Amino acid sequence: MAVVDLKLPHHQYQIHIQPGLLVQLGALTMAVAKHERGTIIADESVQSLHLPTAMKSMEQAGYQQVLTCTMNAGEHNKNLTTMQKLYDDLLNARMERKSPIVALGGGVIGDTVGFVAASYLRGVPFIQCPTTLLSMVDASVGGKVGVNVPQGKNLIGAFYQPNAVVIDTDTLKTLPRRELICGLAECVKHGVIRDADLFDWLDANADGILALDPDTMVELVARNVQIKATVVMEDEKESGVRAHLNFGHTFAHAIEATQKYTDEGSHHHGEAVALGMVAATRLAVDAGMCDSSVLDRLIALQDKLGLPTSADNLADNEGLLKTMRLDKKVKDGAIRLVLPVKMGQVVVDNTHSDDEIRNAWNSLRV
Ligand SMILES: NC(=O)c1ccc[n+]([C@@H]2O[C@H](COP(=O)([O-])OP(=O)(O)OC[C@H]3O[C@@H](n4cnc5c(N)ncnc54)[C@H](O)[C@@H]3O)[C@@H](O)[C@H]2O)c1
Ligand SMILES: [Zn+2]
Repeated sequence: MAVVDLKLPHHQYQIHIQPGLLVQLGALTMAVAKHERGTIIADESVQSLHLPTAMKSMEQAGYQQVLTCTMNAGEHNKNLTTMQKLYDDLLNARMERKSPIVALGGGVIGDTVGFVAASYLRGVPFIQCPTTLLSMVDASVGGKVGVNVPQGKNLIGAFYQPNAVVIDTDTLKTLPRRELICGLAECVKHGVIRDADLFDWLDANADGILALDPDTMVELVARNVQIKATVVMEDEKESGVRAHLNFGHTFAHAIEATQKYTDEGSHHHGEAVALGMVAATRLAVDAGMCDSSVLDRLIALQDKLGLPTSADNLADNEGLLKTMRLDKKVKDGAIRLVLPVKMGQVVVDNTHSDDEIRNAWNSLRV
């Protein structure tokens, strides 16, 4: 088993990573949240695949009553209506201050359930049990929880750290391939922003990753969790280096916001991030900030992992620029970008003209 420690001034917890770890979910939960009762919240597809194992392990660990709540899958259900339903379920079952809530699923579940755990009775023990690669390496670590409102994504939320994160890498075996590959975009991001060795390792181990080799997956998740945890330990509330995690994301959010989510050809988050990383790196290369070999290596790795590096269905430049200006990372009207200066190192920069950004978008079009 790999264990990553996340230590903050007011709170610390462990992130446990191992194939088959779901059978120990109950014991690991009991170790940080001793009580007679607990709750597991998942969506229907994750319930049908992984809830029986999770339930059994909770019961075997000594939880006498385990409430299971269902929320509907999908980003559009990460909202206040879903939270109200979950509060009702918890109140009707008389769940108490000390009974833990386990979020079993992807980032949508983790973010929503985390905000429920942060606010139910002013905060109850919270366990993240992520089952998508994205939520393992990114969303479940760091304590950002919250939901979407019609005015925008993730606008209502809190910083609420879990008491433990339990990662069973075997759950990735049931994850749709496209979702797995999307999670890899965040891993590539971690390499570019902070860890040139990780970038090389991803390149050397691409086959093992795509084949879900058990040892390779533990190493993949552990290395990426370590990076996310280190960034969070340095800057929990995003006043400095945590912003580096937005590499590729200002471009990605513009792609996501300007496409119709129902379109067959629309990009999932990880795919938009992959395109965004290429655009940001292209801009940095054109601006003379970064050697072109970084862009070549990025494109080659993304190709190898099945991530897109170009697109034929992007909105027009003016629409994309307008959305970038609406991004919450914009300060004083200038678009702030995270740009690489070399492999493993990025800077935050708001000195680039609209024309430079237009050129970066154009470089993605095929
Ligand atoms: N809190 C943070 O720091 C943070 C960071 C990054 C992303 N996020 C959030 O994460 C969300 C995206 O998360 P996601 O990519 O995990 O998507 P998701 O939670 O929507 O999950 C994707 C799909 O996979 C299914 N699924 C999950 N695990 C499965 C498994 N093991 N087998 C089969 N199917 C499975 C789900 O039912 C869902 O349909 C977004 O809302 C984003 O805002 C949060
Ligand atoms: Zn992301």
